[in-house]
Amino acid sequence: MSRAYDALVTVDAVSSNRVVTFSRFGGPDVLELADESVTDPGPGQLRIALRAAGLNPADSKRREGGPQYTLSFPAGVGRELAGVVEAVGEDVSEFVVGERVFGTVPDGAFQTHLVTEASRVARLPVELSWAIGGGLALVGQTAWDALASQALAGRGQERATIVVSAAAGGVGGVLSQLAVLRGIRVIGSASPANHEWLRSRGIEPVSYGEGLVEEVRTLAPEGVTAAFDLHGRVSVQQFLELGIPPHRINTNAIDPSEFGIRRVGRGLTSIPTLDALAALVVGGDIELPIAESFPFDDVADAFRRLDRGHLRGKIVITRP
Ligand SMILES: NC(=O)c1ccc[n+]([C@@H]2O[C@H](COP(=O)([O-])OP(=O)(O)OC[C@H]3O[C@@H](n4cnc5c(N)ncnc54)[C@H](OP(=O)(O)O)[C@@H]3O)[C@@H](O)[C@H]2O)c1
Repeated sequence: MSRAYDALVTVDAVSSNRVVTFSRFGGPDVLELADESVTDPGPGQLRIALRAAGLNPADSKRREGGPQYTLSFPAGVGRELAGVVEAVGEDVSEFVVGERVFGTVPDGAFQTHLVTEASRVARLPVELSWAIGGGLALVGQTAWDALASQALAGRGQERATIVVSAAAGGVGGVLSQLAVLRGIRVIGSASPANHEWLRSRGIEPVSYGEGLVEEVRTLAPEGVTAAFDLHGRVSVQQFLELGIPPHRINTNAIDPSEFGIRRVGRGLTSIPTLDALAALVVGGDIELPIAESFPFDDVADAFRRLDRGHLRGKIVITRP
């Protein structure tokens, strides 16, 4: 993607870095805001002035704790972000100060002046809002990798039919739309309030719950090629009941070993994929709805909303 130097954003002098942390496991109430000193980027790194960051269910699970989480406290929060490059480390030639970028980090995205590897971010086109940039990278990358792992045909006699659970959520929404673009037939589960949106994106809606298996059988009596779970155990059990082979079922929501299914899609940054996703959103081929946006300091309220569930698209925190 070419550089739009006329789109460079003016960068102000910075005095402190506001960081979201937690020092014990628990609900959104354990989140704290701390003011720390700003650090300079090292070789290969950038400092990014945050404009928006997406919340993910994984952030809540990690904050709530469990046997799989051994964190050193205080721990950071957040895995996807968008912002303005405000300082460039040695050896970084891909970016200049003032460029709009978006990407993923292992954790700690929720800080106003984040230092990260330059290899983790891509340019954010001027046509995309900060909120969309902040919420796109992790869910988009996860969806892209999960779908690609099944190498499904989109045309001809082998044209695949897939079922996606939580198809109106962050990952499910992107994955379902990517599949539709590739010519794959997509049946997606969501609550009735989201069915019209699914139809508008070329996805055939079904309701989750007890009737799902029968609904899918009625829509696709010839059978389903593969399934993508973005909700959990019950969805996976229903996919198996539909006769979908375990190697054709991918989950990003649970440990796959219990069912012998697959888990592809860890959200590891690939710049070409982020560029492609951004271009698809600019072109209107993929829509990433922003369910609600909260000011940066209201991060605990943002998580309370995320934890209540039943969202269409993303919750983001933003700052001016
Ligand atoms: N890299 C990774 O490994 C990675 C990255 C991102 C996400 N994930 C995981 O993937 C899962 C989905 O994440 P997300 O960000 O897409 O979630 P999300 O945006 O919060 O979406 C949740 C969706 O779940 C749906 N839902 C609620 N109850 C359901 C049920 N009983 N059956 C089926 N769907 C139901 C809701 O649909 P309605 O609103 O229509 O009720 C909602 O749209 C999470 O478990 C997350 O941790 C993994």
